[in-house]
Amino acid sequence: MVTATVPGQQVKIGPTRLLINNEWVNSISDRRFETINPATGEVICEVAEADAADVDQAVQAARVAFNGEWSKISATRRGELLYKLADLIKQNIDELAHLETLDNGKPLQDSLGDLELVIACYRYYAGWADKVQGKTIPINGPYFCYTRHEPVGVVGQIIPWNFPLLMQAWKLAPALATGNTVVLKTAEQTPLSALRVGELIIEAGFPPGVVNILSGYGPTAGAAIARHKDIDKVAFTGSTEVGHLIMEAAAKSNLKRVTLELGGKSPNIVFADADMDAAIAGSHDAIFFNQGQCCCAGSRLFVEEKCYDEFVAKTVEKAQNRIVGNPFDAKTEQGPQVDKDQFDKVMSYIESGMREGAQMLCGGNQVGEQGFFIAPTVFADVRDDMKIAQEEIFGPVMSIIKFKDLDEVIQRANATMYGLAAAVWTKDITKAHAIANNLRAGTVWVNCYDVFDAAAPFGGFKQSGIGRELGEYGLQQYTEIKTVTIKL
Ligand code: NAI
Ligand code: MG
Repeated sequence: MVTATVPGQQVKIGPTRLLINNEWVNSISDRRFETINPATGEVICEVAEADAADVDQAVQAARVAFNGEWSKISATRRGELLYKLADLIKQNIDELAHLETLDNGKPLQDSLGDLELVIACYRYYAGWADKVQGKTIPINGPYFCYTRHEPVGVVGQIIPWNFPLLMQAWKLAPALATGNTVVLKTAEQTPLSALRVGELIIEAGFPPGVVNILSGYGPTAGAAIARHKDIDKVAFTGSTEVGHLIMEAAAKSNLKRVTLELGGKSPNIVFADADMDAAIAGSHDAIFFNQGQCCCAGSRLFVEEKCYDEFVAKTVEKAQNRIVGNPFDAKTEQGPQVDKDQFDKVMSYIESGMREGAQMLCGGNQVGEQGFFIAPTVFADVRDDMKIAQEEIFGPVMSIIKFKDLDEVIQRANATMYGLAAAVWTKDITKAHAIANNLRAGTVWVNCYDVFDAAAPFGGFKQSGIGRELGEYGLQQYTEIKTVTIKL
């Protein structure tokens, strides 16, 4: 058993090779790359590095499975396999949580929270497997017309590092429930937990080739998936920049279907009539949760002028009390950024905020001497045109912006290329509905934030993405509709 020793912990490392056709294999090039513990900066281990040749092998295995054994398995059985996988994840929840925290740096409590959603997601789609059905349609003439919802085929899935296990579940569960086969590429920063789930996928009884898992880099393995001629659909979560590349590659290759979950700069709007304590606590979590590394982070915090001073003072106090440190410590609320690149990127945004004249009220510095920890940072008096109000920072940096009235804040909140999420804090139901109806965002939370459920769809307007994940809507992205017309 390979383990990694971190202060006070022995963490078991699962497989480190590629999963192709239910076998653990080295990459064809034999290359490997290092994955790092972001709390220390130290190497955890090496994993096999896939590139285009390995993508080819995985796609071949997925195609054979799609045409063969998997296509003969009943919908009910697909559901049973997903339930079994959920059970196995539950049985191994502590081990998986430790592995996730080791590779990603998120607090152990948060890894356990993610895993509850992971299990719920597999169970939710397990239940759907035998409930995906077409319609009979009363067309004109002596015909019988009906639709079938068929799997799209071989699906390429590219996931990010901020929620490795949860993004794997959001991708695999609906694809498998509807009968597709999958080639999944994890993010190079966080390959380990998905591979351990790969072992559980085999143990659950999924046939060879149905799920293939590759560790590797974006421009090599990821790009090979996006341009592959025998992949029928690509589902991607990550930066808007790479989202453009994925769509371009799909267009230039075989017009594979594309769904994208991309970045955001989500407005979080606090009115003076809100329950102030709830709004302060909710706005704190909205930006600082997961080290600020959330696509839907409440990163533009609009606060009404009438309560601005009180809100800012209490918010700064709360940020200063946030516990940053060893992610394996049960008291820890915030761990390190995922890697040096992200750390540097966040620090450069902090510098730009100061340069452009926002008021830094706390944080702004590295915490400790090793690893990639950043103190919770609060900027007040942020203007809409500043870089920190426009671009995705993806770190523990709060930007507070003052506003006067409802119409003004709607217009300013919508003035972005993104449209992933939004939130409003108010006791006035009319204002809440005005925000919910008029913000161009895929999700609007009212008096809450980051409420996720496998049944509730999630995705973006504008450049935050294409398509929806989760819920019944999420299934539509994994089926083709076939119309059958029979002369009577
Ligand atoms: P990224 O978009 O480069 O990486 C996400 C995934 O895409 C990874 O699996 C990566 O290997 C893959 N990828 C990268 N280039 C690719 C290519 N040319 N073709 C196919 N796949 C490719 O994001 P990165 O560099 O890790 O982070 C940069 C910024 O992106 C972050 O600072 C954040 O602003 C944003 N981001 C947003 C996420 C979200 O949840 N919406 C998740 C991760 C990053
Ligand atoms: Mg790592």
